[in-house]
Amino acid sequence: MPTQKKSPPKHIAIIMDGNGRWAKSRGLQRWEGHQAGAESVKAVTEGCIEAKVEYLTLYAFSNENWNRPKDEVDALMKLLERFLKKKSKELKENNIRLQAIGNLQDLSPGALKALEKTIEETQDNTALTLILALSYGAREEIVHGVKGVLSDINDGKLDPSKIDTEKFSEYLYTARTPDPDLLIRTSGEKRLSNFLLWQISYAELFISDKLWPDFSKEDLLEAIEDFSDRERRYGEV
Ligand code: IPE
Ligand code: IPE
Ligand code: MG
Repeated sequence: MPTQKKSPPKHIAIIMDGNGRWAKSRGLQRWEGHQAGAESVKAVTEGCIEAKVEYLTLYAFSNENWNRPKDEVDALMKLLERFLKKKSKELKENNIRLQAIGNLQDLSPGALKALEKTIEETQDNTALTLILALSYGAREEIVHGVKGVLSDINDGKLDPSKIDTEKFSEYLYTARTPDPDLLIRTSGEKRLSNFLLWQISYAELFISDKLWPDFSKEDLLEAIEDFSDRERRYGEV
């Protein structure tokens, strides 16, 4: 692949972290931090449209997050349902197409229904594709992909000699989506937490010390600017 410089990212992925710490620092409940975090989603989608980013993937709920206290998980499912119902109109007005990746069947029935409805209603929109990672785990996604490959081989639909990295990508939740160019994590943590392990193999990383509810459109534009100044070498010289 050729060396690239000064081009904006086509796909940004964000690990939205720090809602709990944001709430704690204000003497609030954790769910109030998640509620505040939902507002940052609006800010970053606006920033992406302004910067002509085509895909934005947001890590909203991980497989591992199911292990949090039941109260918090219930609050997150309710917030997700409310967020989808409230934002559906806004997504349509802003020409945003919603998609989701993850083990979606495990979401609460209310959240899943609202999600499916909004995905269907926004499927023809073209300004930005917003992908929510929900009940998502990268290792589980890869295992899911392997099972798909085996099933197609068994059914005679796939010739094993035709399997390469591109072919395998078609069996992941992110099939037909370009890999992220830029991965942002907020709240200063420097880890991937089981997010898009296959897809980010050549993504540029940007760690922000801001807690997610404090992350603004300007912070996103700063990350994009930083990205544009980097030289991506893809192993070449
Ligand atoms: C990110 O914020 C949101 C989810 C993981 C759902 P956290 O809830 O992880 O916030 P911290 O890391 O405890 O501050
Ligand atoms: C990653 O954040 C998951 C999401 C942002 C949804 P976590 O707060 O759950 O990750 P760890 O616990 O710091 O690895
Ligand atoms: Mg966290």
